[in-house]
Amino acid sequence: MQINSREEKHFAKSEEAKPLRIKDAEGSYLISEEGKRYIDFSSGWCVGNLGWKHPQIDEAIRNFKGPTYIYPHFEYEPWFELASLLSEITPGKLTKCFRATGGTEAVEIALQAAMAHTGRQEFIAIDGAYHGNSIATQGLVGDSPFFNWKKLKPPLTEESLNDLEKLLKGKKVAAFIMEPVSMNLDVMIPKAAFMQGMQELCRKYGTLIIMDEVATGFGRTGKLFATEYFDIEPDIMCIAKALSAGAAPIGATLLNKEVGKSMQEENYPYSTYGWHPLSVAAAIASVRFFQKHWDELQVNIQFMNEYFQQRFSQMEFKKTPKMNIMGMAMHLDFGKSDYGEKVTERAFKKGLILAEGTTLFPALDIDFETAKAGLDILEKSL
Ligand SMILES: Cc1ncc(COP(=O)(O)O)c(C=O)c1O
Repeated sequence: MQINSREEKHFAKSEEAKPLRIKDAEGSYLISEEGKRYIDFSSGWCVGNLGWKHPQIDEAIRNFKGPTYIYPHFEYEPWFELASLLSEITPGKLTKCFRATGGTEAVEIALQAAMAHTGRQEFIAIDGAYHGNSIATQGLVGDSPFFNWKKLKPPLTEESLNDLEKLLKGKKVAAFIMEPVSMNLDVMIPKAAFMQGMQELCRKYGTLIIMDEVATGFGRTGKLFATEYFDIEPDIMCIAKALSAGAAPIGATLLNKEVGKSMQEENYPYSTYGWHPLSVAAAIASVRFFQKHWDELQVNIQFMNEYFQQRFSQMEFKKTPKMNIMGMAMHLDFGKSDYGEKVTERAFKKGLILAEGTTLFPALDIDFETAKAGLDILEKSL
């Protein structure tokens, strides 16, 4: 099928789609309209962490008998259940939870909460990061005509703390936001000393810490939340993507008690579809699955992490990559060369999907046979 040449009169998109029209998805496989099966090492960019159409989550959706819709001003018991589950599984003292439809909205709520709590209106983010597609979140990451917020240059080491302190000193910054391990910056892992120093500086200058776990959350890096790798306590955390394992749109902003109180007093965000009943059913099923099976998942992540690294070390790349690997987040960096893109393209033609920029985000519960078959294709694509 000539997808790219087909005239698409009404559907707008910002970039050329891959020539793959999805008909179905199951486990670590995507199935095209022609019936071709692709091994999926991208998980829709950290969404399908449990593989697609996960039996327990699929069942929760199919058996869902609740209401079609809940008006945000009413009450709904599963909202309280999900909020308390999230507070239970997230690190630190994040006891308050706001409803969101996805990652961008979760980050927007986080920014609003930080402004409400501190009375300040500036933010610091990591240069080149990504936190969403709204005007405010775009202002965190690039040059926006509306919000040109401060940027801290990576890599994030002890030396970066001087630059951070310069940005914080004026006491105008409401919050410092980052992914604890940056999926959007090629699986960039900050130094523990940076994270520790960053927390001390933020506390010293009255700036809140927002951890954006939209992509890292729910096991991607080998901990349930990547924040757990560091000795820090965020004031706010954003989650979405794998929260429902890809079964329905949902996001959440978790806040500590004090920030939650300021937000409730100042500006309670209204979200028409925030925590739609079906999405909540999917999220509860997914969180409960993580709670029950986290030990087994961790064993698989550890095994696969070693297996992938062993295979990479045996592959004959034309250009040796620098590898950033944490849990099931893996990036092969070929520098300025376009070799990585070519490998990704060749692998795609042979039936293996990698995430953009030779990044691999396989499902956390991928089985050995599928992992081996995918890596064999990768090897043949070099
Ligand atoms: C770290 C991070 N934050 C926020 C977002 C925005 O999430 P969404 O696309 O659900 O709005 C993304 C999306 O890729 C992300 O990777």
